Parts: sequence; C-alpha cells; structure tokens
Amino acid sequence: MKIAIMGFGTVGTGVEEILFKKRDALLKNNFDIEIEKVLIKNKNKERFPHNKDLVFTDDFDEILNSDVDTVIDVTSNLEETHDRIVKLMKSGKNIVTANKAMVSKYFEELNELARENEVYFSYEASVAGAIPIIHPIMEEAFFSDMNKIYGILNGTSNYILSKMELEGSSYDDVLKEAQELGYAEADPSADVLGFDAMRKIRILSSLIYKAKIEEDEIFTFGISNIKKSDFDFAKDKGYAIRLLAKSKLSDGKINISVIPTFLKDNFFAKTFDGINAIKVWGENFSSYELKGPGAGKLETADAIMRDLLRILAKREIKTFYDASNSYKVTNNLKNKFYIRTSKISSQLKNLVEEEKCIGDDHHIITKEISLDELRNSIKDLDDIFIAEIEEEI
Ligand code: HSE
Repeated sequence: MKIAIMGFGTVGTGVEEILFKKRDALLKNNFDIEIEKVLIKNKNKERFPHNKDLVFTDDFDEILNSDVDTVIDVTSNLEETHDRIVKLMKSGKNIVTANKAMVSKYFEELNELARENEVYFSYEASVAGAIPIIHPIMEEAFFSDMNKIYGILNGTSNYILSKMELEGSSYDDVLKEAQELGYAEADPSADVLGFDAMRKIRILSSLIYKAKIEEDEIFTFGISNIKKSDFDFAKDKGYAIRLLAKSKLSDGKINISVIPTFLKDNFFAKTFDGINAIKVWGENFSSYELKGPGAGKLETADAIMRDLLRILAKREIKTFYDASNSYKVTNNLKNKFYIRTSKISSQLKNLVEEEKCIGDDHHIITKEISLDELRNSIKDLDDIFIAEIEEEI
C-alpha cells in the first residue's frame, strides 16, 4: 500500500519514524505501507528522515497524479491545504488529517465530498492528540444519543494554567516553555485566546449532535488576560482554574463555549501540564472520562497511524455525518461566574452577588445568570478576565 504525506514538520516526522521503526511488526500483520512521496515547501532544507531513501517533492501534482490511495495531511495551512484535499478526494484518494483548523472550517463540505467520491475522511488526530475520541463518539452516534461533552482540549493553555497555579510561574515564561515543548501553535494566539479549543469542540459537538455549528456561534474566551490575583482569588475559595471547552444539548438548544472555569471537580482540576481530558455523557452510560497527551510528535502521529490502519484494513467508518438536526445555539443555561475588571458598569452591578476590591480591580462573583446575559453585560469592558464557576461536573 502506497501513501503520501503532505508536510514534514513535527507530526509528519513522527509518522515517518513510526512507519520506519515498526515496519516489521506491521508487515507481520499484512500492513505493507510505503511512503511514496512527501510534499514539502522547501526542497533545499536539510531533513533527517529515518528512511534515507525517502523521496521529497515540492510539486503537489506529483502527489495528485500518483497512484497512492491515501494521503496523510500534517500541514497547518488552511486554504491551500483545503483546496488540495478537495482535489485529492475528487481523484479518489482517502484523506487522513491532523489539521484541526481545516477540519473545523470545512467539516460539512469535506464529509459530503468524501461521501460523493466514496473515499475515507479520517481526522482522529485533529482533536486531543493520542486520545481516541473521534471514533468512539462516531460509533456511539449510530445507536445512542449523547447530550454533553466537556474537555480540556488545548495543551498549551493547560500547561500555562497548571504551572501558574502550582509553581506561581509567570505567564510569559510558561508560554515560552509550552512553545519549546512543541505544544503551542506557530502563532500561539490560537491557543491562549481559545480558538484552537473552539475548533475542537465544534468538531466533537457536530459529531455527537449531528448538527451544523458555526465557529462564530461558539462563545470563546481565552486565558491571555489572566493575572496572579485571579489564581489567588480562586485558591482562596478552593478552586483550580482550567480552560474548558463545553457543549451541552438541553431542550433542543446547544449551549457551547470555551471559557476559563473555576473547578472543584477532581478529574479536570487534576489535569496538569500539556495533558488533555474529555468527559462524555451518553444515553447508555452516565459518563466516561478520558485523559492523555493532546499534542506532540509521536502522540499525534499515533492517532494518524490508527486511522491509517483502519483505512487499510477497510474497517474505517464511512462518512456518516449528515447535519440532519438543526438545533439553535444559545447559551441560556444559568450558572455563577467570576469577573475581574477595573471598570464596573451599572449593568454589571445588577449581576453582583459578592465583590472584593483589590487595588483597582473588582473581583466579582455573579448571581446565577446565563452566559448570554454575561456576554451582554461585559461587551464594553476590555481589561477583564472571566471564568464560569462549576461546582460539580
Ligand atoms: N496547540 C495545540 C495544543 C496542539 O496546545 O493543544 C494540539 O492540537
């Protein structure tokens, strides 16, 4: 079986390493996988593949017109990769991708295209790295309703929050460490502003509800404004702070957000460093929890390998996603929130249940309100940090 790889960065080199090192074990099980070509941008850059005969090209047409039947996409490019994947699917090639921004933005279109062209579209590696989550919920969705999924889906933010909480480290220092460890995106603003987690909860929620959810319908608030005083306030009340991606279907409405969260719950609060954690609620079980590495070279390559083997063994799930349900996205469920702000509007004053002033900052716990109400009351404030308070998850 011949495959091609688009991209040879962290994850691409991980896939090549596993295929090279595990060649004998794979062959023993009739998985004869050969990388025919690797598409890269710069042919002059020195590369160090395990297989010294690995062939590189900078010409996409060589992949498109080749006889490979499966292409692994490990690029982080959005539009160019999308256009290429459309062409590859139309020419009958299966796609395995780790490119979460592309999967999220073009989810409906690519699923439809895979169906029309009778190819596989596999994207286990796009959410939560090594944790198997896409396939379990895809299978579950055939026979059972799931109405809630919560996750720590961004390793960079979790690394920053848990290091600041436990070691009192500075935001800038721990962000740099997360970059050095290879967790953060090239532009880490997608990590710390919550957009990376937003894309992942959009993919998971689309699958469990079989409904189209637009990225811009998801309330997204990251951790870039967090201060030591927020940790002090939370700690005083016995809370940890984690960036949670949350989605819940209730009375036909999808409540969906990415928001820092004050937690007493053991499972998420005890998720440290670059680790991801996911909790799913379903019809036939109360809930289950998964935890593991959500980023990294071999960790993400591992999920790609599993997709690849499923395709080669012809036991991959054919595209089933059909967006047949049309639920409204609205954050109408009520909860208490923490707000730290230097300015306080009259609208915000009406929501206050508890307030502590430290220096110029007001640290507020609100009454039970919806996220939509909160969003309205803070829209004119810029120097602000918010967190949802979840006593029990
Ligand atoms: N930047 C991402 C993270 C990588 O920090 O989780 C994995 O998607």
